Amino acid sequence: MISEAMPRQAAQPEPVLRVEDLVVEYRLGKREVVQAVSGVSFEIYQGETLGLVGESGCGKSSAARAVMQLPAPTAGKVILNGVDLAALNNSDLRRQRKQFQMIFQDPISSLNPRRKVSDIVEMPLLVMGEGTPEERAKRVRDVLAAVGLDPEASLDRRPFQFSGGQCQRISIARALVSEPLMLICDEPVSALDVSIQAQIINLLQDMKERYHLTMLFISHDLSVVKVVCDRVAVMYLGRVCELADSETLYRQPAHPYTAALLSAIPEADPNRTPQPIAMKEGELPSATNPPPGCRFNTRCPRAREICTQVVPPLETIADRHTVACHFPLTAD
Ligand SMILES: Nc1ncnc2c1ncn2[C@@H]1O[C@H](COP(=O)(O)OP(=O)(O)O)[C@@H](O)[C@H]1O
Ligand code: SF4
Ligand SMILES: [Mg+2]
Repeated sequence: MISEAMPRQAAQPEPVLRVEDLVVEYRLGKREVVQAVSGVSFEIYQGETLGLVGESGCGKSSAARAVMQLPAPTAGKVILNGVDLAALNNSDLRRQRKQFQMIFQDPISSLNPRRKVSDIVEMPLLVMGEGTPEERAKRVRDVLAAVGLDPEASLDRRPFQFSGGQCQRISIARALVSEPLMLICDEPVSALDVSIQAQIINLLQDMKERYHLTMLFISHDLSVVKVVCDRVAVMYLGRVCELADSETLYRQPAHPYTAALLSAIPEADPNRTPQPIAMKEGELPSATNPPPGCRFNTRCPRAREICTQVVPPLETIADRHTVACHFPLTAD
């Protein structure tokens, strides 16, 4: 008798990166503590790009450095491909860290000015002990061509002989040559002219498809993130206040802070709901003394008493859409 196959449960794939309750604090003298990241959690799946956005000083770079354990977070877990990085000894951690590559804001200062492009781009392969000299040379040429640089014209030159945009292409080549598990881009276009920004964003898009990249993409600019990211986490003063698929987040933001950030983008979708909202005037509160309750309460036009007393938990309001707000915005 032919038995019917058991219906198979669709297995949820393991994320490449799982971050749980990440806390980063910096001690300033005896009394003051900067609460840079206060309990951030997210997951990134194979081939996915997660955006991390929020104003300058909200903790994006601190979170990224903590993910790479440079330095290790004050608390929380970072699990890369099932391995808890905090539980590793130093040499195992060094090995795991090679699975990450980073692209920084300032392309020129992130490249060693004294080295030739061929050496800069080959370095990750040398560090990982990969390939013969001939194999490495081929990979360097291939990746330079992939990022839109002529290998023949670039290999023997040094970073100062290139423009800012071209230097960022070299950084991207260096990051991709070793085919890392995870690429972290920290404000990769913020230091570039607007016209060049679009070229680099397009390049990252192409690279994402070509190399099936898994990326954490950090920016203070929601309009930049929109093009590149599949999902977006919005941070405010050390906490994630909203996390959703890009399309949902831009079309139907539920957190007043996200809505206010989007309202400030002139080319944002005119059909977006709800209506634009403005933040109350005032400085970003200090991370050494964040407001109690919802950290956004001093700038939120919807704040009520409970917002100054009770921290709003991150709750699921729709499929793949979580929000931390006592009074989230609705479509109508
Ligand atoms: N090494 C450090 N020592 C003390 N405070 C820091 C340090 N790095 C960052 N901070 C503070 O932590 C907070 C978050 O900073 P950062 O992670 O750089 O934010 P972002 O990348 O979003 O601009 C800010 O208040 C910043 O001043
Ligand atoms: S919890 Fe209150 S203060 Fe915070 S975003 Fe929501 S309405 Fe505004
Ligand atoms: Mg930063």
